[in-house]
Amino acid sequence: MFRVCNVSEIQENSLNKFVIEKKEILVGKKNGKLFACDNSCPHRGASMHKGVYKGNNVVCYMHDYEFDVLTGKLTNMKSWKKSETWVEQNPAWRASGDLIMYDIEIKENEVYLEIRPKQ
Ligand code: FES
Repeated sequence: MFRVCNVSEIQENSLNKFVIEKKEILVGKKNGKLFACDNSCPHRGASMHKGVYKGNNVVCYMHDYEFDVLTGKLTNMKSWKKSETWVEQNPAWRASGDLIMYDIEIKENEVYLEIRPKQ
């Protein structure tokens, strides 16, 4: 496991970027629970730490897709259709997976994470 930071550095409702083993990782805290995921949006790779919270979701700043930060699940992608007159050129464009979540552990007030994605 890799040490990330001290627990006190992760504030409630924050989205923090760390680079661990050359990977950008997002660590945040929602409802008192720490979570970690890949910082790359599963849709088109935008930096997730630039997003905002909406309930338990983080909303990607690029196309407003929403992901549940506690499960990683894609929960809302309605924003792909900007207006009634919007004509889709390629439906594959809007496809997206879920966030890649990582196991996180707290030992003696330090946050550690496993780089291997959660099963
Ligand atoms: S890159 Fe995140 S929603 Fe498109």
